[in-house]
Amino acid sequence: GLALLIDKLCRTRSLSLGEYERLIAQRTPGTARELASRADAVRRRVYGTKVFTRGLIEVSSFCKNDCLYCGIRRSNATARRYRLFADEIVKCADTGYDLGFRTFVLQGGEDPFFADDVLCGIIGRIRAAHPDCAVTLSFGERSRKSYERLHEAGAERYLLRHETASPALYRRWHSPEMSLENRMRCLSDLREIGYAVGAGFMVGAPFQTAADLACDLQFIERFQPEMCGIGPFVPHHATPFSAFAPGTAELTCYLLSIIRLIKPNVLLPATTALGTIVPDGRERGILAGANVVMPNLSPVAHRKDYDLYDNKICTGEEAAECRGCLGARMLSIGYELVVDRGDMAPLPEA
Ligand code: 5AD
Ligand code: FES
Repeated sequence: GLALLIDKLCRTRSLSLGEYERLIAQRTPGTARELASRADAVRRRVYGTKVFTRGLIEVSSFCKNDCLYCGIRRSNATARRYRLFADEIVKCADTGYDLGFRTFVLQGGEDPFFADDVLCGIIGRIRAAHPDCAVTLSFGERSRKSYERLHEAGAERYLLRHETASPALYRRWHSPEMSLENRMRCLSDLREIGYAVGAGFMVGAPFQTAADLACDLQFIERFQPEMCGIGPFVPHHATPFSAFAPGTAELTCYLLSIIRLIKPNVLLPATTALGTIVPDGRERGILAGANVVMPNLSPVAHRKDYDLYDNKICTGEEAAECRGCLGARMLSIGYELVVDRGDMAPLPEA
């Protein structure tokens, strides 16, 4: 059975590639329950029942990349493209502050309009208006110099999912000008510059096997990111992957539990994609070991146009409605949203 592997994972926070693969391929509802209950216990020891919030501001739906899974890929001629003005972005943060957010995630496609000087100005304005808040960026791959300038401007965290740690699979999911090597270069630059770094991957995306997911877990174990964003693949109708099945909440939650056990203090979101494939996805993510949610602060007028995948939730709700809805959802399962920057906690004593 897998009981010995689960014990080893809990004790050493480490498994071999083959062991991770077996833990995934041979999983049963019983192993899922066991991992979830151990992950929940570990998370309670580090973070209690507090759930951190990040206010997500989607600043641009323009993207120069052509990822095969993503609805805002450059070849999607049907995508509606928008950019927020600096004033609008700052206003979203102000609204978020009043709702209790103390972290703002500025995210966008790889849009050359958001050059360093533009972003530095926005970061500086948000930091000046809300010095008790953290600014997190998520603008994909940039030069080391660019990451340095954004960090100097006051951004302390950066989210850049590695998407998949398997080089062959990475090539099948992306257009030829992208590479896993450059992705890894970006992640190590961000780490060296001093950002808190978020890696992460998609679950159940086309051609992905248990062996590929084992590579992702080994990468998380070795890189030790402060944050790890994982969510199910959700097809988008106007992409080459439109006809593939979505990933499952079951496998996503199983992996969330394993990641919590690999790194007990990791900041682990129950993602919007997880909430999209099943109605109680975010609650299930928290119960599996996640401790972060990322409600949307983008202006409702543009929500539907940040269209990474089909049927995305919360596209019609105002920021206050999402905050209220998620607060109630967390209370219903015995957790509570807190007004806090949500920095990574120290590891507990062994
Ligand atoms: N399904 C699920 N997640 C997706 N992302 C992009 N497209 C999809 C999709 N079709 C994720 C990627 C990216 C993040 C911002 O959204 O992992 O890093
Ligand atoms: Fe947006 Fe529930 S979190 S409506």
